[in-house]
Amino acid sequence: MSSKTFYTTTPIYYVNDSPHIGHAYTTVLADVLARYHRAQGDNTFFLTGTDEHGQKVQKAAEARGIAPLDHCNDTVVRFQQLWKKLNITNDDFIRTTEERHKKIVSAILQDLYDRDLIYKGAYTGYYCVPCERYFTEKDLVDGCCPDCKRKVDTVQEPNYFFRMSRYQEWLIDYIQTHPDFIQPAFRANETLGFLRKPLNDLCISRAKSRMSWGIELPFDSDFVCYVWFDALINYISAIGYGTDNKKFEQYWTSCQHLIGKDILTTHSVYWPCMLKAMGLDMPKSIFAHGWWLTGTVKMSKSLGNVVNPMDMVDKYGVDAFRYFLMAGMTLGNDASFTEEEFITRYNCDLANDLGNLVNRVVKLIIRNFDGKYPRPAAIMEQGDQELIAVALQAVDSVRVAVENMKLDTGLDCVMNVVRSANRYMEVNKPWELVKAGQTERLATVLYTAGEVLRIVSGLLYPVMPEKMAELRYVLGMSEADQRGVSFEQVRSIGVLEPGTPLHDTAGLFPRIQVPENKPCQAEQVKIKKNAEPKVKAKKEESPVPEGVITITDFQKVQLRVARVLTAERIENADKLLAMTIDLGNGDVRPLVAGIALFYEPESLIGKNITVVANLQPVTIRKRESRGMLLAVRTGDKLTLLMPDASCNPGDTIG
Ligand code: ME8
Ligand code: MG
Repeated sequence: MSSKTFYTTTPIYYVNDSPHIGHAYTTVLADVLARYHRAQGDNTFFLTGTDEHGQKVQKAAEARGIAPLDHCNDTVVRFQQLWKKLNITNDDFIRTTEERHKKIVSAILQDLYDRDLIYKGAYTGYYCVPCERYFTEKDLVDGCCPDCKRKVDTVQEPNYFFRMSRYQEWLIDYIQTHPDFIQPAFRANETLGFLRKPLNDLCISRAKSRMSWGIELPFDSDFVCYVWFDALINYISAIGYGTDNKKFEQYWTSCQHLIGKDILTTHSVYWPCMLKAMGLDMPKSIFAHGWWLTGTVKMSKSLGNVVNPMDMVDKYGVDAFRYFLMAGMTLGNDASFTEEEFITRYNCDLANDLGNLVNRVVKLIIRNFDGKYPRPAAIMEQGDQELIAVALQAVDSVRVAVENMKLDTGLDCVMNVVRSANRYMEVNKPWELVKAGQTERLATVLYTAGEVLRIVSGLLYPVMPEKMAELRYVLGMSEADQRGVSFEQVRSIGVLEPGTPLHDTAGLFPRIQVPENKPCQAEQVKIKKNAEPKVKAKKEESPVPEGVITITDFQKVQLRVARVLTAERIENADKLLAMTIDLGNGDVRPLVAGIALFYEPESLIGKNITVVANLQPVTIRKRESRGMLLAVRTGDKLTLLMPDASCNPGDTIG
């Protein structure tokens, strides 16, 4: 057992929503991380739950003619059932309507009020019901919610405020001196960009006369607590803050919050200020991942392209779905989910590479060694040792990948081991060794391949627990070892005892057939026809001359307006600037550009520039760059193309 502690959280989801692929993603991600840490021997705690107060729930309950809590009790089940179906191993599930949570929120409110960190004031502003957020006039975009772009309600009422503005300087300093606090780094920059404007005090109450579904303020029964202030506290109320100090101290400072980029500000600004006011330490990190899109289009109910995780699991199995979610998204960036992409990856990685390797190795052992592990020769050949070394190297790479939140890279390493093992089979041709009667060599090759499969099964277990437990059963491992994976055992060699019986398999990952002429069109993810104006590629009557592109070619390039949030020089690179740019709709990205000789970084902040938004990401001087800016070249000089301030981030060009 290592002495490390790992505590991870997902956002608590709005109980009212139907669970979709986004909820499934963050929760599977947390589950995979928790399972890796448990396999590492770390003391692990994994929390998820539901956010149950607020106007949306009250309105939905009213519409059904039932009490809000009854409505929550009905709807929370959808999340709980989905987590069961997705094999989620959360250690706790917190609901903000539970007594254990409400009483801590209440105690915190009272304490802050007693210390004058909460005060009564007059509030005039705007409230977005779907987002459960208050906004000021300057936050609004065209009079609408800056996040969801929907109409906001105007509100005027006395309210209570948390003195958040007090912590602005402290927070800026904390973020600057703790570079791993907000991840990826460009999200820390985005937060610092936000903190350049004066930070207002936070309105934390809601008049009961308008909305009563919330936790009552202990010092004024005419008000309930603002839902975000209530919700964020779940991360500490669930682990015993104020009730079980030992448990709380054991986990809190190693907490790694996982969130989507849509809720960055509440977590990277409100929450740290709240904790600071309470006199608590900060969590270890806040990691914001990107969005699942359909191609490049945002998923939304109105477009009809929302992926229902239950359907995917019913159709393709839980592990295939979990694998795609983990392998398909580079943490931090957006990723695309379509059924075509899902099937292609499944058939390549799982049916072909891994499935075939399992079949070959197991069937050859069963046929030639009476179904039992053969004893390898005392001396292995170089090729055998090399393959084992590649597999052991992957154990380390996976550990590093998990620590650095690069799960897709980790999985790539494991699939490379699988591909190396397939090559090893091609080179050593055990089927020919059978014919030639070279039994000892055959035994060594199959034993080696079996050990590599065992290592692979251990490394993939956190992502595909059912299938890998099955594989470990096929490999003849004990019942305890099938599900109790420890990395210490994964990295030991010689775990499979010669003479142990294997079990035959009908195939772990049957290939998904895609009927010819009928390119697999996603049923659930079909985009309604009017969603994305498709330019019909006219049948070209005459061939396009060389050097000329068609309108279809041109429209592949996404030219967009971006606003520069941060810009800085890169050490030892005179020409380069590292920037964070905002492409609207929460799409904030890092971008590296060779313009440092022509622009002072500070002069660019807040300016609009033009970028190619769908260029393949590259890494320049260890920094990620997602997109390319456009500049005019005059001799040696570069001049940026800068749309004026009337243009908005994300506006399209062309
Ligand atoms: O915001 N791709 O709850 P919520 C990836 N109750 N992840 C996505 C996604 C997508 N397309 N859409 C949603 C709330 N998510 C608050 C949180 S926490 C104290 C309170 C995921 O039900 C992602 O994790 O709207 C995002 O942050 C979360 O769902 C929002 O869930
Ligand atoms: Mg949301």
